[in-house]
Amino acid sequence: MADLSGFIAGLPKAELHVHIEGTFEPELMVALAARNKVSLPYADVDALRAAYSFGNLQDFLDLYYQGMNVLQQERDYYDLAMAYLRRAAGQNVLHAEIFFDPQGHTDRGIAFRTVIDGLWAAMKDAERAFGISTALILSFLRHLDEAAAERTLDEALPWRERFIGVGLDSSEKGHPPSKFQRVFARARSLGLKAVAHAGEEGPPAYVHEALDLLRVQRIDHGNRALEDAALVARLVREQMPLTVCPLSNLRLCVVDDMTRHPLRRMLQAGLVATVNSDDPAYFGGYVNENFTAVQRALGLSRDEIVTLAGNGFRAAFLDDAAKQRYLAALDSYVVAASA
Ligand code: ADE
Ligand code: ZN
Repeated sequence: MADLSGFIAGLPKAELHVHIEGTFEPELMVALAARNKVSLPYADVDALRAAYSFGNLQDFLDLYYQGMNVLQQERDYYDLAMAYLRRAAGQNVLHAEIFFDPQGHTDRGIAFRTVIDGLWAAMKDAERAFGISTALILSFLRHLDEAAAERTLDEALPWRERFIGVGLDSSEKGHPPSKFQRVFARARSLGLKAVAHAGEEGPPAYVHEALDLLRVQRIDHGNRALEDAALVARLVREQMPLTVCPLSNLRLCVVDDMTRHPLRRMLQAGLVATVNSDDPAYFGGYVNENFTAVQRALGLSRDEIVTLAGNGFRAAFLDDAAKQRYLAALDSYVVAASA
């Protein structure tokens, strides 16, 4: 089988599903813990990394929220986002739409302003320094109630121009999209885009709810949609993008082996699948490693890889001119690589 890792590395890509808090590498976490005089329950970076073994989504979330506690000052948020964007740009990610979880910070007494000012300054500096384009998506924590999400949206409104949409993440089972119908309706009425994690661990019914009740424009993950043929037909008919995260799926036991990952079946069914990293610091790889791992395991062809990269730009919240520019860059790369 052809080794496509070099081709993947140079490929122009978009990243549509990455949690900024999930890019918190152990080295940076240990450094910021020292700077902020926060004690971590691990002796060193190796011990921290060794703890990253998860049986399910909740196992991961417990560590993810614990890691976030280290983030306290505006410059911490800046350093976190800058480290991710430097790395993403180095992997030829031309455009990144980044989730942040305000409630993971404000519930610890960190001001919303501290979080968004740090992230925003890094985004603007990275755009200038690396030529990457960026956008933020404010994600509500679904294990909390809708009133808390409403308060978070209120708190965010002074910075309305700094985020393009709302999302829904955290513990999926037992927290259906229907719980957040009103806050999503309000967000949409403010002109915000809507996305939601659905069908990662939760049933296909949650994907239906995300579409019907939250009126999302993308489904984050969506793996379990494949259990429902009528739902697959609908997602294909509506050309609803899925932001798929192969290494996350493996590390959270959504798939038991990468050779059984559903990505090729998704493409063959006509679904608009994209490849993303989710929480790269916890799951062993950024976007290139996600592409490479799933390409190798499934033996994906170069054409399939190009389709996936193209889907990333087509599914992005960009205007048509920007999409065409990125797709043209992708085309030129593929032509040059074939010469
Ligand atoms: N928050 C961060 N990563 C997540 C994931 N994969 N699923 C749900 N919530 C998350
Ligand atoms: Zn996610």
